Amino acid sequence: MTSIKPHGGTLINRLAEGAERDALLDEAKTLRQIPINTWVLSDLDLIAVGAFSPLTGFLNEEDYVSVVERMRLADGTVWSIPITLPLEGAEDSLRGERVALVGESDGVVYAILDVESVYRIDRRQEAVNVFKTDDPEHPGVKKLFERPIERIGGSVRVLNRPQPERFNEFYFDPAETRRLFAEKGWNSVVGFQTRNPVHRAHEYIQKSALETVDALFLNPLVGETKSDDVPADIRMRSYLVLLENYYPAARTFLGVFPAAMRYAGPREAIFHAIVRKNYGCTHFIVGRDHAGVGDYYGTYEAQEIFSNFEPEELQITPLFFEHSFFCTHCGNMATSKTCPHGKEKHLTLSGTKVRALLRNGECPPPEFTRPEVAEVLIEGMRDRAAQQV
Ligand code: ADX
Repeated sequence: MTSIKPHGGTLINRLAEGAERDALLDEAKTLRQIPINTWVLSDLDLIAVGAFSPLTGFLNEEDYVSVVERMRLADGTVWSIPITLPLEGAEDSLRGERVALVGESDGVVYAILDVESVYRIDRRQEAVNVFKTDDPEHPGVKKLFERPIERIGGSVRVLNRPQPERFNEFYFDPAETRRLFAEKGWNSVVGFQTRNPVHRAHEYIQKSALETVDALFLNPLVGETKSDDVPADIRMRSYLVLLENYYPAARTFLGVFPAAMRYAGPREAIFHAIVRKNYGCTHFIVGRDHAGVGDYYGTYEAQEIFSNFEPEELQITPLFFEHSFFCTHCGNMATSKTCPHGKEKHLTLSGTKVRALLRNGECPPPEFTRPEVAEVLIEGMRDRAAQQV
């Protein structure tokens, strides 16, 4: 069995080990210390383990400009989201230096970076190209505007890795998922991105995909999300109870994606697909308004963007799904492709409405959310609220 190749052909590994790591740790003490926050740290770790292959570090200026302008690295490889390292006031003299990347809250030396490039970005331009808006209310744009304009780019060697506080057993590096998928004999694996609990609509599109491929890789994003998204630890408990009760264990694999959410809609869909290819997925689900927020993107824009690329450039096959819902007349989940009935028969709830119900301790209808899932979410929200009092 030959597994799908990583993006760019090689699975990147920037983790330093053994004697090399010891030497670099010593060297790091002599280098300028650059503080990094948890967002940058998550990007760093994903670079190190090859989830962001072919990146070997933070984008240099040439790649950055190319990614922002044409969704490609300078060598033409498709890449849609700028992965950059902001450094307030970075001076040009840093070019050619080595610096140590140190956790701003824990003081841990995480990596050494060879500074190849020092540059200033046009945040508005990046916002308009990547997020399709410069509205500061957009959560991704807001983050971008909060960061300074200076960037340093270059390859990294990673010396320490962030330690997950919880759900350790669901963190897998791409090399591990690739090995595990192969061991299980899966030739085709569909990846599913989510920053939400899995509701019936998600379940429906996952299982529709599962009818035609060997396995489902449920790969929830657990990095930074906006404050009104359901926290990752509560979601993890809800995924476990859902899988236990409704999914075939032998054909389902749960592992987290420890990246920050960008809310970049179409561009993030491309990015999400490429990363899942690096984890070994052959297929990737893109439903309605993938990675969207508010009304910034058209319902199917995250699907349409794939037509900008040749299938062989991406390799991973996107599986597109229309908006799905429970139809009270059909008595099952459906989309407008499979259901002839009018909207009045279709049960849909907005994310805001569902969160409001759950916060009030009320279960959404079972046609919308599995009761076991609702229970975990209500309990999680209640605990969270109690902690915040
Ligand atoms: S995302 O920001 O991580 O994309 P979400 O967790 O809501 O958000 O969605 C996960 C995946 O399910 C995305 O591909 C999204 O397009 C899809 N999806 C969510 N809700 C629906 C729905 N009702 N019908 C079809 N696809 C959906």
